[in-house]
Amino acid sequence: MLPPTLKWEGDALRLLDQRALPLETKYRICRDYEEVAAAIEDMTVRGAPAIGVAAAYGLALAEREGEFAQAAKRLAATRPTAVNLFWAIKRMEETRAAHENEKNLAELLALEAAKIHEEDAEINKSIGRYGAALLPDECAAITHCNAGALATAGYGTALGVFRAAAEAGKKLKIYADETRPRLQGASLTAYELMADGLDVTVITDSMAAFLMSRTKIDVVITGADRVAANGDAANKIGTYGLAIAAKHHGVPFYVAAPLSTFDVKCPCGAEIPIEERAEDEVRKIGGQYITPPDVKVWNPAFDVTPSELIAGIITERGVIRAPYKENIEKIFPGGNA
Ligand code: MRU
Repeated sequence: MLPPTLKWEGDALRLLDQRALPLETKYRICRDYEEVAAAIEDMTVRGAPAIGVAAAYGLALAEREGEFAQAAKRLAATRPTAVNLFWAIKRMEETRAAHENEKNLAELLALEAAKIHEEDAEINKSIGRYGAALLPDECAAITHCNAGALATAGYGTALGVFRAAAEAGKKLKIYADETRPRLQGASLTAYELMADGLDVTVITDSMAAFLMSRTKIDVVITGADRVAANGDAANKIGTYGLAIAAKHHGVPFYVAAPLSTFDVKCPCGAEIPIEERAEDEVRKIGGQYITPPDVKVWNPAFDVTPSELIAGIITERGVIRAPYKENIEKIFPGGNA
């Protein structure tokens, strides 16, 4: 059984320490918003929806100390790309504004955070059902990074599609890209799928194109950190290359993402802020340098897949296909500002 990603304990948030997986299962206790912010920054908790849920609980903790406004600012500065973080902060701000004069505001905010938490797991199940219908009864698939229960409040987006397909009796063979530099595929996706008894094989990122040339791959499915108004999608670095390889080999490339990952104020992928992380994430593996310690490094944490490479975006309300701009507009008629 997979341990829960986040646990709310009334006066603290417990986060499954994803940096220690798969070797160790331990929780980090966050008693104030600063501890939650630090845990998002150092990737104790990661994955767009999970970051949003963690930030919501962080704001509930902050309200008790009368520090809601500072906390909203601090949490918004932790990771720039995943829009779910900003979505969750905004939802908590709106909740606070609606109940500003009530005595039990901190409790109400904790309830709202718990609601976001519960809703996310339900949303993923719906994404799973729509996605599973796209897969053949015997399906070989590739995924990148970890868009699973560990990256969400439970069940997962891309991995939720595989879970739902397996629950529907489909036979799956899933290849997980290891996902340099932080190896979320090798450590988290492999662990998560094995915990559920799914057939998973790890490949290095550079093997995916060759795999498609040698084996029949039916589908590639990844998550997303932000989907722009024209359907361009930011996700873990390496996703773009995988989508190009999929196009070349005639393999449909799908993105699985909740509507909270859409940023319709952002017109296209070029406008999505891309996080750049510490150079040592590339220079070191397992704490040891694998490069000259002072070599220059470029370490963008995400890339952007242009919508023309995307066969469909699987959401909790169905699969959005091209023309993306028009079809996304239909779902967010007044924008999601
Ligand atoms: O840097 P991470 O591990 O937070 O990046 C995670 C991803 O890129 C996921 O694919 C994305 O957040 C979707 S999670 C359902």
